[in-house]
Amino acid sequence: MTKYVGILTAGGDSPGLNAAIRGIGKAAQTHFGMHVIGFRDGFRGLMENRTMELDGNALSGILTIGGTILGTSRDKVHRMPIGGSMMDMTNAVVDNYRKHHLDVLVCLGGGGTQKNAAHLMQQGLNVITLPKTIDNDVALTDVSFGFDTALGIATEAIDRLHSTAHSHHRIVLVEVMGHNAGWLTLGAGIAGGADVILIPEIPYDVAVVAEAIRWRSQRGKRFSIVAVAEGALSKDEAAALQVVEGQKQQTGTKSEKKQAKAALAALETQRAGHTLRLARRLEELTGLESRVTILGYLQRGGTPSAADRLLATRLGTACAALISQGVYGVMVAARGDGAKPVPLDDVVGKRRIVPLDHPWIESARRVETCLGD
Ligand code: F6P
Repeated sequence: MTKYVGILTAGGDSPGLNAAIRGIGKAAQTHFGMHVIGFRDGFRGLMENRTMELDGNALSGILTIGGTILGTSRDKVHRMPIGGSMMDMTNAVVDNYRKHHLDVLVCLGGGGTQKNAAHLMQQGLNVITLPKTIDNDVALTDVSFGFDTALGIATEAIDRLHSTAHSHHRIVLVEVMGHNAGWLTLGAGIAGGADVILIPEIPYDVAVVAEAIRWRSQRGKRFSIVAVAEGALSKDEAAALQVVEGQKQQTGTKSEKKQAKAALAALETQRAGHTLRLARRLEELTGLESRVTILGYLQRGGTPSAADRLLATRLGTACAALISQGVYGVMVAARGDGAKPVPLDDVVGKRRIVPLDHPWIESARRVETCLGD
């Protein structure tokens, strides 16, 4: 019996998504004789029944292209903005899955996508997911596709900032994406030879950072590169966050929960522009001129690296093989050189952050990089 496979991409886009769509689609159709259909713009397109035929033509020539040919959105199945209010669209999504007689829905995405897929699994749908995110924070996989490309882009940016920082004897702070995980900043910071690396996992003390920069200055290095994760926190900010998160966990009633959520959101708002403020503070403390570069969406755009194309193809083709065996309810994780199905329930709700004993942290310290603590 021919199997019917639906594919969607959800959450922030990332390089390698098209390579993964191609890997799943080609293997499923040409190797396993399945029928494949795409849904546009993530779960929103599935809910609205907006489809795209993923035949040989559609899958040809996309391996090297960034973004996703299917489009994406951050819409959640159970909380979708419809006409100005949030609605639970689970039933409409399930109906469309059934309308297309799907045997399985493949969801390519990060933590939020895994959650949405698990929600659909609870409704009785067959789902399989792939880990995609430049943040590299999906649990139970060695790595997520998109990360390697973003790492290369951020590293090249740091390389380029070196010469201008050097010429002007400036502190250059470069803000790197990664949400609340420091993988991208730590990796690019080490590879690019940043003098200071600030990641969410290690709250920093601005006085320690200033001292490291002054010390370089005294040794004749009149410039410094500071790689700052978008989620980096000072020790004070981390303490405030811990209090609010503690309150959130202890809350019982709906209104208490709402209050705790609002307090968290207020903290987030306060932190907007934190790299700019840090730059001003370092200028005051060191007397060196400071400049900020925010890399932003550059890190998500453009052609995927060879490593991401390989990873996405490996996971995509393994996904097709698992479907042919009827293995559902799993995420296809990267393990060593291979791919391993891990229960989706074990992935959901977990975030893979940088462990404090990770070898990258040790390497950074050994080459005298200041981590702000
Ligand atoms: O998850 C990928 C990511 O680029 C994060 O690094 C960043 O915090 C976030 O997405 C930005 O989200 P959006 O695309 O919704 O602005």
